[in-house]
Parts: sequence; structure tokens; C-alpha cells
Amino acid sequence: MNQQVRKVVFPVGGLGTRFLPATKSMPKEMLPVVDKPLIHHAFEEALAAGIEQFIFITGRNKDAINNHFDHAYELQSLLNEIGREKELAYTRDWMPAPGNAIFIRQQEPLGLGHAVWCARHVVGNEPFAVMLADDLVLGPRPCLAQMMEVYAEKPGCNLLGVEEIPLERSVRYGILDIAEDYGKLVRASGLVEKPKPEVAPSTTAIMGRYILQPGIFRHLEETGKGSGGEIQLTDAINRMTAETPAYGFRFDGKRFDCGERAGFIEANVAYALKVPGLREQVLEKLRAMLDAEDHAGDTERQALLAR
Ligand code: UTP
Repeated sequence: MNQQVRKVVFPVGGLGTRFLPATKSMPKEMLPVVDKPLIHHAFEEALAAGIEQFIFITGRNKDAINNHFDHAYELQSLLNEIGREKELAYTRDWMPAPGNAIFIRQQEPLGLGHAVWCARHVVGNEPFAVMLADDLVLGPRPCLAQMMEVYAEKPGCNLLGVEEIPLERSVRYGILDIAEDYGKLVRASGLVEKPKPEVAPSTTAIMGRYILQPGIFRHLEETGKGSGGEIQLTDAINRMTAETPAYGFRFDGKRFDCGERAGFIEANVAYALKVPGLREQVLEKLRAMLDAEDHAGDTERQALLAR
């Protein structure tokens, strides 16, 4: 079996209900963090990790994602006519080579596990990465590239990007039952999807980064509906642990949950503060807003005291 990880699956078929009405006719993955859509950030991270083929599992109302990875002829010819070279480059120069972006329709949003299973014929018999675009990681080095290095030391395993979470948040994540803890790396004896805090086996939670073995497809086929009535990827990885070890990797970097509003706003601020020129403007506006908030508090307190 080819051990090199050349392909990534981007499951982008979810409904994005937490962002309604923004996601009524626009995919959640096209929401911008500063000036790039979430899926573009994920694409760049995959490229930096040496990925060659990009498999998007889309759904209804997701055509904007296909279009983002294609030419925009009208815009490009107009920009060309008026000599806007820099802007033209933004629309074009990063695009994957023809044939390297593959789009599959999930048809029904039956869960993350089902979305990954839809990629089985295109992935074939080789290890592959899965990236959830709504988990954005800002770190010293791209998260998937870090995972590739760890995978090279543990070929043949299922490797999951993990992070410690507060126990009360366990109902939102796949949680590892830890057999051995080596610090950056942990070996899981099992995994549980969205457990209640009282039964969560640990506080080590899966974030949206995976390197998986192709055997997962057989397990996904056998995995029935789990938490939330969806086919869960975590359940299939758990079933597989008897034959394929599952490791969690505590990656370096700050992860933003862009699938929910506060995390998305936080990510926008954090990314903006990394862009020279924009940083100063954003800091100035933030300081002014915080001052105004403090001042509003003072006025309220004074009004209360005056009663
Ligand atoms: P989420 O749990 O974030 O669900 O899915 P969602 O539908 O996108 O958003 P909410 O909860 O309704 O707001 C995690 C990832 O799995 C993908 C999503 O697109 C997201 O990247 N997914 C989920 C699919 O591709 N297909 C599905 O059937 C479900």
C-alpha cells in the first residue's frame, strides 16, 4: 500500500444551521476569515502539508465552493483589461491544477462519517487526510504538516488532531479513551462521540484534522447511525482500534471553532492581528470599542447610584 498521504477529503456537505440566516443560500465554508473563505484557509494548509489531490464532499447549495476553485472569467477578463495584476493574481494564481480538485455530492447530509464514506472510490487503497474547514488552526507551523511528520513515525495508524477541552464541552466532540499518554502523542483504546461530561472518558477531544487508513471505509459501511442520528466518523475509528491503532496528536497552535459565532469572530480578530497594516487599524478600533463599553458600564453604575 502506498503510505504517502497525497489526498485530502474536505467534508463540506453540512447544513451550517448555527449560522442561519447567513447559510441559507451560502455555504458555511465560504464565510471569510479576513479576506479568504474558511475552505481556502483549509486548502492552503493542505497544500503546505504536501497534499496533491483535493476531494470536496459537497451538498445542495454548495456551488459557491466549486466556483471558488475555478476561473471567474468575467471578473478575470475585466481585471485584465484594466491592468489590475495584483487582484488578478488573487483570483487565479493559487488554483489547483486541472483534475486535482474533485467534487462529490453527498446528496443527503447524513453525517460526517457518511460524507467521508462518499469519497471511498476516489481515495482508493491509500491513507488520506480529512480536514474540517470550520476548525481553523493558527500556529507556528500548519497543523496538517505537523501531523504528517508524526504520521511518518507511526505509519499505518489513524492519527487524530486533538486538544484538551473543558469537561462540560464534551457533548460537542469526539473524546478519546486514553490508554497511553506520551505528552504530545496519546494512544487511544477507544473513542466516544459527544459523551455527556459524567461519562466522558477524558477531556482530550478530536479537532477537525485526521490522517486515516482506507480500512475506515469498510467500517463506515458497517457503522449505523450514532449520536444525533448521523453516521459518525468517530464511531468508525473506534470500531477500527482493534486492528488499527488510533493516536491523538496535541498539535502546536491555537484552534478556532468557526462553526459557531463567537469562535468565528475570534478567528477573524486573531487573523487580522497577524496582517501588517491591518493589525494597527483593528487594534485601534478594538481599543475604542472596549473604552466605549467600559464607559457605558460607568454610566450605568452612576445612574444606579443616583437612584
Ligand atoms: P458540523 O457538526 O459542524 O455540522 O459538521 P454542520 O451541519 O456543518 O453545522 P451546524 O451544526 O448545523 O451549524 C462538521 C463538518 O462535517 C461536515 C460539515 O460540513 C462540517 O465541515 N458535514 C456534516 C458533512 O459534510 N456532511 C454531513 O452530513 C454533516
